[in-house]
Amino acid sequence: MATSTAPVAPPAHDTFPINGTDYIEFYVGNARQSSIYYRSAFGFRLVGYRGPETGVRDRASYLLQQDKVRIVLTTPIGPEGPIADHVRLHGDGVRDMAFWVDDARDAWARAVERGARSAQEPTVMQDEHGEVVVAAICTYGDTIHSIVERRNYRGLFMPGYVAVQPAFQGTSAGLMYVDHCVGNVELGKMNPWVKFYEDVLGFRNILTFDDKTISTEYSALMSKVMSNGNGRIKFPINEPAAGKKKSQIDEYLEFYRGPGVQHIAVATDDIIKTVRTLKSRGVEFLSVPAAYYDSVPARVGRIDEDLAPLRELGILVDRDDEGYLLQIFTKPVQDRPTLFYEIIQRKGAKSFGAGNFKALFEAIEREQALRGNL
Ligand code: FE2
Repeated sequence: MATSTAPVAPPAHDTFPINGTDYIEFYVGNARQSSIYYRSAFGFRLVGYRGPETGVRDRASYLLQQDKVRIVLTTPIGPEGPIADHVRLHGDGVRDMAFWVDDARDAWARAVERGARSAQEPTVMQDEHGEVVVAAICTYGDTIHSIVERRNYRGLFMPGYVAVQPAFQGTSAGLMYVDHCVGNVELGKMNPWVKFYEDVLGFRNILTFDDKTISTEYSALMSKVMSNGNGRIKFPINEPAAGKKKSQIDEYLEFYRGPGVQHIAVATDDIIKTVRTLKSRGVEFLSVPAAYYDSVPARVGRIDEDLAPLRELGILVDRDDEGYLLQIFTKPVQDRPTLFYEIIQRKGAKSFGAGNFKALFEAIEREQALRGNL
């Protein structure tokens, strides 16, 4: 931990208040099949649908929910248009990390005034349940932040979506809320995007990892964590650093064809149970050598959990000044080595597991080498 630095953060001056993550939307090649994966493996419930049957001609969107985690899987119906272009270029990936706000028009205007590139002007959508106002701004790569106002809406999600009750439904794996979303950007672009989140959204840089913290024998990366004022939105931003071989960030950038979301961390309050459930349903995780656990007691001190199940499942542990955390990372969830998930349980700690970076990145590099990309 000595090598991570917490800058003296200026007080956050959010450009507009954000209540939390509204949803995360993925553009995928086959949303119908992806929705089965997220139900059967991750335990989401399919609750809504919008597509040709409901009057939207060019796309189909599946709305899935687990506790406070809401995801939308969207696929193009034909080969034309921006959704198809996105999927062709990036493969399955995150298009939108949407903010839940109280006043979307005001939020969008303030962001644009401070230099944000607009992706969508404020648009009102109405049905018998009220109205939702949605605007959007661009962030790194082809990724956007929708700005969603739903205070005058009492429907399921948004006008256009219909409630569905499929015969097959997911059973919760204990995933509760989005803890943080990490972006990978090109060499030299981390600081410009840090400045974007500071200047445009009023976020602050709460933690910095330099390439000495995050390096293995082969590759390195740098990372800065951006947070909004209430801490409900946390965006670490990574860029590659020079190493003997190709950084894992470079591998991502090559296969995603540019910057994008690298991983989504989802919180649980019982990581042993959650990981056991996910593994039994086919989710694949990175493993660390058994020797990792030899040093855990000395490094993190007393914890509530037995070490045996942590070792059995490959769950990592780290401590900071405020407590400890347990975390584990999946392998990429599509064939391109791009997006993966983190499962995290916080027991006081507000950091991101810097003490695990070395063991973790060595595990990632073993996988990278197997793919012939190291
Ligand atoms: Fe993370």
